[in-house]
Amino acid sequence: MKNVTCIEDLRQLARRKVPRAFFDYAEAGSYSEQTLHANRADLERVKLRQRVLVDVSARDTSTTILGEKVPMPLALGPVGMTGLEYGNGEIHACRAAHKAGIPFTLSTLSICSIEDVATTVDRPFWFQLYVMKDRGFVRSLIERASAVSCSALVLTVDLQVLGQRHIDIKNGLSVPPSLKIRNLANMAIKPRWVFSVLSGKRWTFGNLDGHVKGMEGVKSLAQWVGSQFDETLSWNDVDWIRSIWPGKLIIKGILDVEDAKLATRTGATALVVSNHGGRQLDGAASSISVLPKVADAVGSEIEVMFDGGIRTGQDVLRALALGARSCLIGRAYIFGLGAGGEAGVARAIDIIRKELDVSMALTGVKSVKEIGRHILLQQSSRGSSPLVNGRCIRRQVRGRL
Ligand SMILES: Cc1cc2nc3c(=O)[nH]c(=O)nc-3n(C[C@H](O)[C@H](O)[C@H](O)COP(=O)(O)O)c2cc1C
Repeated sequence: MKNVTCIEDLRQLARRKVPRAFFDYAEAGSYSEQTLHANRADLERVKLRQRVLVDVSARDTSTTILGEKVPMPLALGPVGMTGLEYGNGEIHACRAAHKAGIPFTLSTLSICSIEDVATTVDRPFWFQLYVMKDRGFVRSLIERASAVSCSALVLTVDLQVLGQRHIDIKNGLSVPPSLKIRNLANMAIKPRWVFSVLSGKRWTFGNLDGHVKGMEGVKSLAQWVGSQFDETLSWNDVDWIRSIWPGKLIIKGILDVEDAKLATRTGATALVVSNHGGRQLDGAASSISVLPKVADAVGSEIEVMFDGGIRTGQDVLRALALGARSCLIGRAYIFGLGAGGEAGVARAIDIIRKELDVSMALTGVKSVKEIGRHILLQQSSRGSSPLVNGRCIRRQVRGRL
């Protein structure tokens, strides 16, 4: 990975090393992928304001997430089936996150189980919960997370029904999975991947395997998962979860101001402005376009986190400037994992940290708490103007004249 200088390099490496079906699974969005692309396009439209001759010699990217001190405002978000991008992928990613001093989130649909990860790392991680119809199973998952001292529960609320990813169906990564011959042949020519996955702890959903009565093997577990997403899920269920999990709660998948206000009433510690990385409602707004409205509405009552499209430290800076306290990444670290296991994830985190640090300097800010909308330019058809308190200065001045 000597020549890796950016997340795109890791993506290219992962594309070569990970079998096509699993690389596509990580990269794809739902339906025509409008929201997936909007996440990136809208982030790129947020222009940073270059400032000069500011003494930025004493810079600090550290901050807190959920009250814990972290060296940068970043966490690894939950990604299902991470262990199929690289053998024991969840353990590698968790180790890299912890070495970098940032949180790691284990998905309900991980390959390594809660216990697999807990026994191989020495610090608590976050656990992400999908609420299944089988509430007894949900309760047992929360209890298992609690038993290994997970330090936060990330409740994902934007997946009551599954958005369709066309490419997964074409590749046979559907429910139940039935990989096509060409995919199996493609795996055979990725020897490092085969070795890492075959020497991994598991090849199936670790949190489910042996915990769901009568279900064994990846096919029947996948079928069970497919039948278990609960369309009746409502805010009342959040109260129920709160009664079982008194610890820190993060509600992930908020894309609307009204929902953000409802989330504050649950007593959750944080919410994540997220559209599931463009994998659920296609045609939904990009995460970055709704972030300022959500942050303005509820940012003083609940910690606002952000994800969707982050590939650079500049993107983290943009999100912070628009009101996020911290960011989650998904694909950026999954590409690192596919490219080189733990070292690849570590590289992804380090790339983003360095880019954030340099971009803070070039926008004239020395600490995370100094980041605000004043470091952004608002784009209009007539060019760019600095933003002050979220409003365009040029427009304010014109209004006054
Ligand atoms: C391959 C993949 C699997 C995912 N699995 C989950 C999951 O199991 N639970 C969840 O809450 N979010 C899941 N997500 C969404 C991520 O947590 C996150 O919201 C998203 O990846 C952010 O966008 P980004 O990939 O552009 O950073 C998944 C995302 C990807 C790419």
